[in-house]
Amino acid sequence: MNTQAPAQNFPIARVRAHFPALSRSSQPPIYLDNPAGTLVPQQVIDAVGDAMVNASSNLGGQFAGSKRADAIWLKAHQAAADLLGAASAREIIVGQSMTVLTLHLSRSIGRTLKSGDEIILTRMEHEGNVSPWLLLARDLGLSVKWLPFRKDSWRIEPEDLAPLLSDRTRLLALNYASNMTGSINNVAALSAMAKQAGALVYVDAVQLVPHRLPDVHALGCDFLACSSYKFFGPHLGIVWGREDLLTALEPYKVRCASDLLPERFEIGTPQTELLAGLSATVDYLAWLGEATGHSGTRREKLLGAYQSFEAYENLLMLRLIDGLQLMRGVTIQGICDSADFTHRVPTISFTHSTLSTHVIAAALAEREIYAWSGHNYALEPARLLGLDENEGVVRLGIAHYNTAEEVELTLAAIAEIVG
Ligand SMILES: Cc1ncc(COP(=O)(O)O)c(C=O)c1O
Repeated sequence: MNTQAPAQNFPIARVRAHFPALSRSSQPPIYLDNPAGTLVPQQVIDAVGDAMVNASSNLGGQFAGSKRADAIWLKAHQAAADLLGAASAREIIVGQSMTVLTLHLSRSIGRTLKSGDEIILTRMEHEGNVSPWLLLARDLGLSVKWLPFRKDSWRIEPEDLAPLLSDRTRLLALNYASNMTGSINNVAALSAMAKQAGALVYVDAVQLVPHRLPDVHALGCDFLACSSYKFFGPHLGIVWGREDLLTALEPYKVRCASDLLPERFEIGTPQTELLAGLSATVDYLAWLGEATGHSGTRREKLLGAYQSFEAYENLLMLRLIDGLQLMRGVTIQGICDSADFTHRVPTISFTHSTLSTHVIAAALAEREIYAWSGHNYALEPARLLGLDENEGVVRLGIAHYNTAEEVELTLAAIAEIVG
């Protein structure tokens, strides 16, 4: 297998040709709203459409249409297993969204907890990995401890976790990559500490997977959640769980539904057409591995793709951060030192000393530059950073289909807006 393709050789024109949203006009919008949801390649759209024509039957029937739906279901779980480094498709639960799956699984996990048990939540989380656990704590009388991130390193440091662990700690809900600051946590080290104390570790990798390839077994956690609409696929959530744990937990399901894995945690009729889109998404990423000179298994091609676009995205991020740092009144809420880029994804949030984040985002929208303003459900990070919750940040999120020219246009627009 080839190692890292130089960022300069990244096949950006071929990549962009895959995304119909980028060729709808000669001057498409500049999509920097990627942390809220990415564009979708044509092959994913085709797979969704094809499934709606040829596999619209329910699963488990005797006839061809149903067998095609069965095959789509299995293929999607295998694709997600390759993407996350899971040992088998049985460890992959697919559902409506990360939040819905987490709320659902938290009920089963709650069956193993009792009043007085302790859970640790972090100040870096999106609400999807906070509110389900707060609701559980309220229902069961659990005690909640809060793990901060540092304002200097922008990460959660293991020494801050140590004093929170006790023989009553039952769960650590841990962010992998922040949807506000972009920071990537050392999940392997933090997981190891929590596991040592006997706690379960539930990792939110929603913002990581668009930029880095996780390896669930190397991480040592128990659950890892992500969402395919954040990595160029359809609106689905995915949770990987350790097979022995998923077998032991009691599922909240209807009586006649299968008790096999992963079906016991997938409630209701599966979204077959979106599952077809999920497989096509992983195949698109594997194609990108091939296009950047990587071969081997699908997982190896995926690794190659991610190495290639990490280097490419880092170049764009470097320019965006450097440009923003030169602007008076702009403060970047996250890691700025390029030597530390391995510890962040290219989600760049900033505030301005006088202008409202919403005014800046609206002015960008007028120029067809898509960006979010506000707390983006990262309530705890906004609070820890001392930001006005309603104002939050302006968030610019790079994906591998963005270009250097788009970054220049965005910088010029922001310079004009902030004067
Ligand atoms: C870090 C993070 N976690 C969780 C979620 C929630 O994902 P979903 O929309 O699939 O529920 C998001 C969505 O923005 C997110 O950014």
